[in-house]
Amino acid sequence: MLKTCSCGELSAQDAGRTVTLAGWVNRRRDLGGLIFIDLRDRDGITQIVANPEISPAAFAAAGTVRPEYVIRVKGKVRLRPAGMENPDMSTGEIEAVASQMTVLNPAKTPPILISREENEEEGLRLRYRYLDLRRERMQRNMLIRHRAVKFIRDFLDERGFIEIETPILFKSTPEGARDYLVPSRVHPGKFYALPQSPQQLKQLLMIAGYERYFQIARCFRDEDQRSDRQPEFTQLDLEMSFVEREDILQLTEELIIGMVAHACEKRIKSVPFPRLSHADALDRYGTDRPDLRYDLELVDLTTIAGRSRFRVFTRAQAAGGVVKGLRSPGCADYSRKQMTDLETLAKSKGAKGLAWLALRQDGSVRSPIAKFLAEPLMAELMAAADMEPGDLLLMVAADREVANAALDVLRGEMARRLRLIDPDEVAFGWVIDFPLFEWNEKEARWDPSHHLFTAPQVHDIPLLDSDPGAVMSDQYDLVCNGYEVGGGSIRIHQRQLQEKVMSLIGLSASSAQEQFGHLLEAFEFGTPPHGGIAPGIDRLVMLLAGEPNIREVIAFPKSQSATDLMANAPSTVTPEQLKELHIKLDLT
Ligand code: AMO
Ligand code: AMP
Repeated sequence: MLKTCSCGELSAQDAGRTVTLAGWVNRRRDLGGLIFIDLRDRDGITQIVANPEISPAAFAAAGTVRPEYVIRVKGKVRLRPAGMENPDMSTGEIEAVASQMTVLNPAKTPPILISREENEEEGLRLRYRYLDLRRERMQRNMLIRHRAVKFIRDFLDERGFIEIETPILFKSTPEGARDYLVPSRVHPGKFYALPQSPQQLKQLLMIAGYERYFQIARCFRDEDQRSDRQPEFTQLDLEMSFVEREDILQLTEELIIGMVAHACEKRIKSVPFPRLSHADALDRYGTDRPDLRYDLELVDLTTIAGRSRFRVFTRAQAAGGVVKGLRSPGCADYSRKQMTDLETLAKSKGAKGLAWLALRQDGSVRSPIAKFLAEPLMAELMAAADMEPGDLLLMVAADREVANAALDVLRGEMARRLRLIDPDEVAFGWVIDFPLFEWNEKEARWDPSHHLFTAPQVHDIPLLDSDPGAVMSDQYDLVCNGYEVGGGSIRIHQRQLQEKVMSLIGLSASSAQEQFGHLLEAFEFGTPPHGGIAPGIDRLVMLLAGEPNIREVIAFPKSQSATDLMANAPSTVTPEQLKELHIKLDLT
């Protein structure tokens, strides 16, 4: 090695040792007679002193270096003079006095500062990702990710799981997003699809008798980018045979608890993870991925509000909609401006307005709709919402979906305003008992809520014929801090049932055969009952690292418009390449 120790490991005990260090110049301070260099490597920073009386050559070299130069320094470790220690650095008690200094490679002035974050545009960070990755924050994130994945591998290995790789060049698999396609050179006009997940393959591995499979699997989905979505992302994909829902939930919960303890400093808010039915999650939080770090539950006020003289409320009820409310403790004195901001937020989710009612400390009520509410009715509303003096009640009248969406964002906003979120905490929960299907208004057909391999709950199978919308499934979602961090289900393992579900979602027998013939056929060769789950590694690590988006925990992520700004992908290819692939471009 070109170095004898790292820049993070020296302490007072090493005083007197002669060491060789190598790394990047983090900072250089020229005090005229002495030059100080903060030398950085992945492990930390060591202060180097160049003193012309000790080594004129090292001092001269120190005079030439600039930030991000790669240098190698030989020197003697000594205690810093009294009063010059830096308690914020692990190596803050010592410094190394240079006897030799070699510039291994100079550096141009970097377009982003490594030693300090400066709120630069993200595009610049992505364009120079290799510089951005030098930063402490990113190194910490990569380490958390490494530890999380290492923990997962060890944990599952100890429990008899084996890791098996599945193909990246495969066949289009329906998981609800658009596929990334790869043209075949040897089969003109045909395409592979990159897997949206290894769903069918892991089920086939169960049919193949492996019983406990996992994979740290790369998945590809061509969908709009968001802070928690990337076109390629990583799942912990796992599948087990001879299990019921409870087995998967227990195993996953144990794994997540261990992983959090192992990979980061966060505390888990509640263990065991609370469980909510899908219907309950929507009723109480307005979303199927509730943020359980704080309470602020929604209340359904429809029947009370429906008896008011406020047309907006009565019309909503008459149209089959709802009036739902959110109690905001201690916000009775919100200003007009604050109310307008909240209303704007509600409107961004489709609400037509935001009605409110404030119960002042002195017991009086303030509300823009007071004139439509008789006093007893007002009292009923406040009682239903558990209002106390000083509280504000926010109300949205709309169809159920819009009211839920609007109150969901308001709930998050109020939690931030009221500082109800402990940044050191992560709150996991399970959402269970999903409906098997969702009605697709546009196409006038049933869509699978999860994917078409999810099994209906056994006692609901008879309803498949009579009332598909009422069939509950054995799907489960793992949520954390308001994100869906994992999804899975017990699977269908009989050909007949699978074909029935396929026909209900509008797949003709022939297209079912064409797309899924291999799986349907496999079901007939002895298929064990099985189920699994796929936690999203990027989202989990984002939450463990306390980052606001998954790009911060992916070494080389795509931008919001799905491009790699460093390598400039996607890019054009040569006419020869296109010809080989039998592709003619039509860019009109
Ligand atoms: P699902 O589609 O719910 O299930 O995905 C599982 C988890 O993967 C993560 N995820 C994503 N992360 C980043 N970017 C994306 N574009 C993205 N899409 C999904 C989420 C999500 O909870 N085959 C099934 C799993 C199963 O049934 O076992 C599946 O993929 O954290
Ligand atoms: P208006 O009668 O239009 O002045 O509305 C009176 C109050 O009701 C205002 O605070 C509006 O924001 C609110 N409001 C209007 N439509 C709705 C709705 N669909 N749900 C809740 N409040 C509403």
